[in-house]
Amino acid sequence: LNKGLKDYYKKYFYMGVAVAPRHLSGPQAELILEQYNSLTPENAMKMGPIHPREDQYFWRDADSIVNFAQHHGLRVRGHNLCWHEQTPDWLFKDSTGKQVTKEVLLKRLHDHIFTVVKRYQGKIYAWDVVNEAIDDDPKNFLRNSLWYQICGEDFIVKAFEYAHEADPKAILFYNDYNTERPEKMERVYKLMKKLVDAKVPVNAVGLQAHWSLEEPSAAELRNTIQKFASLGLKVQITELDISIYPWEKERRALRPGEKGEYTPELEKRQIAKYKEVFEVLRQFKGTVTGVTFWNISDQYTWLDEYPVRGRKNFPLLFDTNLKPKNAYYEVINFKK
Ligand code: G3I
Repeated sequence: LNKGLKDYYKKYFYMGVAVAPRHLSGPQAELILEQYNSLTPENAMKMGPIHPREDQYFWRDADSIVNFAQHHGLRVRGHNLCWHEQTPDWLFKDSTGKQVTKEVLLKRLHDHIFTVVKRYQGKIYAWDVVNEAIDDDPKNFLRNSLWYQICGEDFIVKAFEYAHEADPKAILFYNDYNTERPEKMERVYKLMKKLVDAKVPVNAVGLQAHWSLEEPSAAELRNTIQKFASLGLKVQITELDISIYPWEKERRALRPGEKGEYTPELEKRQIAKYKEVFEVLRQFKGTVTGVTFWNISDQYTWLDEYPVRGRKNFPLLFDTNLKPKNAYYEVINFKK
């Protein structure tokens, strides 16, 4: 292929992909350079991996991704600064094992954000500042994480303020999944409206887009983007994949006899979904500023382990041999 997604979508949005350092050489690196113009570290910049002890940072993996991007002229989205998962062991406790106070936790958040954001200032154009702070249960507003238990809602406001102070030019995102579901959209909207009204420096919403053949509908996706645009926010699709299985919340083991099979019927439905999704996204030129796939190809996807351990999934546009799938051709097949 002598053109890639990034070329076909030049007039619309950046095309990105989530990567680990092991993808940055050989055929996967070639595919990245052919297709994409933006990278997101899949795990390397999360607080657990990058800040394993209070007085110790681990930069190697994150640096290698940023250096690769710099070398080849790709942009980088930073992921992420404040999340309830993949946190380091020391974060919420003092040296005696007691839970820290709000004051201490916010100081730790401040120091973490300043150190990481400043290191990559000018090299990372956008940050997922707060990730997944809304609860899964529609009855609740915010997730009852340790961040929330210790700081209340303030950790969200502070995270954005610290990030903005550290790099005033970075585009700051709130990032979450299932946001197109009407009940969740209302709650994310409520949070964003609060932040915008309070003049908190938030610029954009990341729709993770771990989608399935069933959802979201085109109308749900359209409504969601419109709602955030009405607040003056930009939108990016930050972690796109379209699972061939229905959404499941709980992790579980493979059932006897259950195997991941990519039937022609499932592929047909996936092609149609990809086509529909990109038709909607193209309608929001200027609002949707980036689309990032969560992994490069069906050779490796986090969905092989989640929610069902060891069940192969085929959610991306390139197959297990890194060749474009029929869905790829559907995505680039539009009047340029
Ligand atoms: O690095 C350790 C390794 O040292 C250890 O031996 C091994 C044994 O389990 O685990 C390795 O860590 C794994 C890590 O990925 C790196 O491969 C973790 O177990 C595993 O849980 C972790 O999964 C990541 C997950 O976030 C964590 O919740 C996935 O790769 C990553 O794709 C996924 O990404 C998230 C986004 O950040 C936020 N939105 C949802 C998305 C999918 O869950």
